Amino acid sequence: MSFIIIIINQDFIYTTPLSTHNVLIHSDFKPEMERFRALGRSAFVLGYTGLAGKALVKELNKAKIFTKVVLIGRREIPLDVGPEFKQKVVDFGKIHEHKDVFQGLDTGFCCLGVSSKGISQEDYIRITRDYCVSAAQVAKEQGCKHFTMLTGNGTKKDSWYLFGRVKAELEEKLEEMNFDRLSIYRPAMILGDSEGMKVSEKLARACFKPITYLSPTRLAISDSLLARGMIVNVVKPHDPSVREIYENKAIHDLAHNWKD
Ligand SMILES: NC(=O)c1ccc[n+]([C@@H]2O[C@H](COP(=O)([O-])OP(=O)(O)OC[C@H]3O[C@@H](n4cnc5c(N)ncnc54)[C@H](OP(=O)(O)O)[C@@H]3O)[C@@H](O)[C@H]2O)c1
Repeated sequence: MSFIIIIINQDFIYTTPLSTHNVLIHSDFKPEMERFRALGRSAFVLGYTGLAGKALVKELNKAKIFTKVVLIGRREIPLDVGPEFKQKVVDFGKIHEHKDVFQGLDTGFCCLGVSSKGISQEDYIRITRDYCVSAAQVAKEQGCKHFTMLTGNGTKKDSWYLFGRVKAELEEKLEEMNFDRLSIYRPAMILGDSEGMKVSEKLARACFKPITYLSPTRLAISDSLLARGMIVNVVKPHDPSVREIYENKAIHDLAHNWKD
């Protein structure tokens, strides 16, 4: 298999297979959304104050597929969402002391993570891997059946880069937890609102624009398409024989099932 490898900085490593992973396209997605809505499921979102998490909340607010959505983070932010959304502030270092916030929530989305720039390796691993694993453990104990995790393109056990190795360890630990269903997303560069981004990140995104124009599904994904891909997949009936790891192109394919 041939690969495109683009290195912009340590956190942006893209090893994109040129062959594509095909995702089943559902010709009629709306009835599936209705069917899911009728199940009366509830969810939580970790990392909802970040780029991917905010977009997920926005799309969940449009989809209205959950009766309750608990947004779990280290701070509250202003949000224009429906009454089914509740923000809860926790200390991720002591997540076992916050079991109650996960109680009875059957679906979990984890968009928590941090850039490896400007922090120690120890802190990077603690936030990127350990916070997510601990939160997943507590969520499972409290009734989470379907856990969704954002790792990233370049996730690889023997990666040269810390990002790839730590995300691979995270995926492995989540797989060992035996959720009823685990869905892993490996987006390439996530494009969205650049508010709060470092100058180097803005520059990297600007450099990417012409490339993403020429090859829209390979090297990047918009925050809203990523969110839609995750929502479409949650709604889709689960096939337990499939190991759910979605690379960038597959996330695009999932997202295009959702037409406004
Ligand atoms: N951005 C990309 O291009 C890209 C590409 C591939 C994969 N990913 C992965 O996708 C995930 C989401 O990325 P993103 O761009 O949305 O990240 P982001 O904008 O930096 O958001 C990260 C989220 O994690 C939270 N967080 C960070 N450090 C924390 C800490 N010490 N304690 C508690 N919460 C903490 C942030 O909370 P605060 O708002 O309070 O800081 C925020 O909600 C990450 O795991 C990332 O590695 C990103």
